[in-house]
Amino acid sequence: MGIAIPLEDRKQKATGLDTLLELIRPDLDRVNQLILTRTGSDVTTIPEVANHLISAGGKRLRPMLVLATAGMCGYRGDGHIKFAAGIEFMHTATLLHDDVVDESEMRRGKIAARLLWGNETCVLVGDFLLGNAFKMMVETGALRCLEVVSTAAAVIAEGEILQLNAAKDTKTTMDAYMAVIRSKTAELFAAAAEIGPILGGRCQADEAACRSYGMNLGMAFQLIDDALDYGGSSAQLGKNVGDDFREGKITLPVVLAFRRGDEQEREFWRRTLERGDIRGGDIEIACATMRKHKALEETIERAGQYGAIARDALCIFPASPWKAALLDVVDFCVERVY
Ligand code: IPE
Ligand code: IPE
Ligand code: MG
Ligand code: MG
Repeated sequence: MGIAIPLEDRKQKATGLDTLLELIRPDLDRVNQLILTRTGSDVTTIPEVANHLISAGGKRLRPMLVLATAGMCGYRGDGHIKFAAGIEFMHTATLLHDDVVDESEMRRGKIAARLLWGNETCVLVGDFLLGNAFKMMVETGALRCLEVVSTAAAVIAEGEILQLNAAKDTKTTMDAYMAVIRSKTAELFAAAAEIGPILGGRCQADEAACRSYGMNLGMAFQLIDDALDYGGSSAQLGKNVGDDFREGKITLPVVLAFRRGDEQEREFWRRTLERGDIRGGDIEIACATMRKHKALEETIERAGQYGAIARDALCIFPASPWKAALLDVVDFCVERVY
């Protein structure tokens, strides 16, 4: 599929995540090491499937949030390493499950695991990773952090189910969409950002500020992901663009275009998204209609607003290299094209 609404020319920060990566490099190396050692199992299919996905990379954004907020909050122990690896395991599990639910064919630039090993195996390996994530995090004995991550695991599942219920329903409201992305994506970002202040023994206000940073960053991240599903490039993203359209997923670009469209346009969305009657050239029509109603631009603009809330949440912390790097993450998430 061609790129109908190129978003690549949006302003891109040259620095990206470099400053953050420099700060957390030794910790992130330990996290990556731990991730590799904890996929082991005598049931050889498990490491095969897990390593297919893990060796393909991924941005490691969520573990970065754990490490950077722990640094900003002056935490000196080792618990953050296990939480960072555990949260990345949780994320990897949700990707395995999500590709089954979404029937996606490409992930992290590779053929999706479900096409190689089948849906059943991918669901079960996802369960293994989720179980192992908690086993690893329990070793820290940090009960309050465990409460945060276990709540996140349940909320993510709720979000994916809410999304399933809204699929193919063009009557989905903006509020319903926001509730879905808050649960399925932002909740894990919030949990990742809340671990640091809890481990660091910081006050309740600091915990709440970090959580708010993560939550709003996660909202911005998913809004951009949903814009990129129509306007991004598969090669850069490592996943197929247009998946959301083919699945009848109701994301903000669709909600905006549907609501702002005339009756003929609404009938187009009902035919394609609700009835799944997708014909050659429909994706181009979808993109042209979105362009007409500025649906992608406004989705990106809203991501910018959540990004601004995330930035403001950190205002109560004194200047530090960690804080500066966390602010860079906001720019990265809002301006990313991959
Ligand atoms: C993908 O997350 C799932 C979404 C919440 C959109 P990422 O884009 O962070 O995935 P990886 O880990 O970098 O592959
Ligand atoms: C991802 O949502 C949310 C979770 C993995 C829980 P998407 O379905 O939009 O993510 P991609 O586009 O497949 O990465
Ligand atoms: Mg998906
Ligand atoms: Mg997506």
